[in-house]
Amino acid sequence: MKTTIKKAGSHVGNEVTIGCWLANKRSSGKIAFLQLRDGTGFIQGVVVKNEVGEELFKKAKEITQESSLYIKGVIQEDDRAPSGYELTVTGIEVIQQAEDYPITPKEHGTEFLMDNRHLWIRSKKQHATLRIRHEIIQATYEFFDKEGFIKVDPPILTGNSAEGTTNLFHTKYFDEDAFLSQSGQLYMEAAAMAFNRVFSFGPTFRAEKSKTRRHLIEFWMIEPEMAFVEHEESLEIQEQYVSYVVQAVLKNCRQELKALERDTSKLEQISAPFPRITYDEAIDILKKEGQEVEWGEDFGAPHETIIAEKFDKPVFITHYPKDIKAFYMKPDPGREDVVLCADLIAPEGYGEIIGGSQRIDDLELLKDRYNEHNLSEEAYGWYLDLRKYGTVPHSGFGLGLERTVAWISGTEHVRETIPFPRLLNRLYP
Ligand code: 4AD
Ligand code: MG
Repeated sequence: MKTTIKKAGSHVGNEVTIGCWLANKRSSGKIAFLQLRDGTGFIQGVVVKNEVGEELFKKAKEITQESSLYIKGVIQEDDRAPSGYELTVTGIEVIQQAEDYPITPKEHGTEFLMDNRHLWIRSKKQHATLRIRHEIIQATYEFFDKEGFIKVDPPILTGNSAEGTTNLFHTKYFDEDAFLSQSGQLYMEAAAMAFNRVFSFGPTFRAEKSKTRRHLIEFWMIEPEMAFVEHEESLEIQEQYVSYVVQAVLKNCRQELKALERDTSKLEQISAPFPRITYDEAIDILKKEGQEVEWGEDFGAPHETIIAEKFDKPVFITHYPKDIKAFYMKPDPGREDVVLCADLIAPEGYGEIIGGSQRIDDLELLKDRYNEHNLSEEAYGWYLDLRKYGTVPHSGFGLGLERTVAWISGTEHVRETIPFPRLLNRLYP
């Protein structure tokens, strides 16, 4: 019977066939241990010479790393195995005997591994990280569906920029100019006026010349937008969402977290509510820590890390100065120099995972912002319409998937949290 490693538990004592690859092997004169992987998991295949005979034993010993196989064998329970099962091999069909595989069990440099990313994603830790990415996506759909949000897909090719014009990828759209989307937000605001609560999940592009462990050129963002929701309520939804995702990974990715040696005690305590501090309070903290930062400046990664270290949960920094934030953010009615926004900073130095705000709902105020930011009514007129025809208080936010995967999986650099990262110096593979 054909099965997968993941389903081994339902076939104990039976002979099964598994399509797989050889990850590694060890052998002596009498016994060979084949580390097998099929994409659903890892299992050890045991080949005993006295039981399988000379010919099959020789075949097993000659299989090269990453050769593709159909392996036949009997599933055995085994408490010592990480998966809990082992395979007593009874037959081997080699589909292809692999050439010398570049990624050997020895240590390799990151650039080499990145050049071989198309193969590297087969490795145990990379596999685990990307499996956690999948779990976070699953939990995201579950959470928002449960909360009554409709998934809406904003365009990738667009004439508008949401987050400023400095880091846009420019392209031709027949005779017009177009950009790759930096954020679907403006479209999601239109969608919220049609469906009340919406979320998107898609790729976004930023031509940022930043070469840090937190920046990708192409990254995936989850962008919820909610009608009749003000700043404070939006923060509550954010903390519930992030807690839900962390708990889903803890529940469903135990093996992956173990493979990555993630300290899960730090994740266990992630539950709503999260602490909130204002930008002003953040400035005070940084000054007390001896940082040279003045009111009105944006925070860099080291600043975020200093603040994150004060808390064991993600922390919201709210009410940033209006001048360092996007044109669409609603000013605080009590204080016009700051806006009703929040960045959510992950613990353990993983940086900002969410940026969000309440949006300007007043037509005249938004028109003033257009003038200040030189936005043309020709290109952005449609966005003003949302304030002409039944405007309501509304808020939304964007969660960066890769930074969230990095934090939850404990992966140092975001390049390992996406299958094929686009980086400043990397367009291949
Ligand atoms: O803070 P940002 O720029 O916010 C927006 O784009 C809003 N329009 C979202 C919204 O309100 N709908 O980006 C949101 C998140 C950041 O907090 C960060 O996690 C991630 O996107 N992000 C990046 N991730 C990887 N590489 C980059 N270059 C990133 N830039 C932003
Ligand atoms: Mg931001």
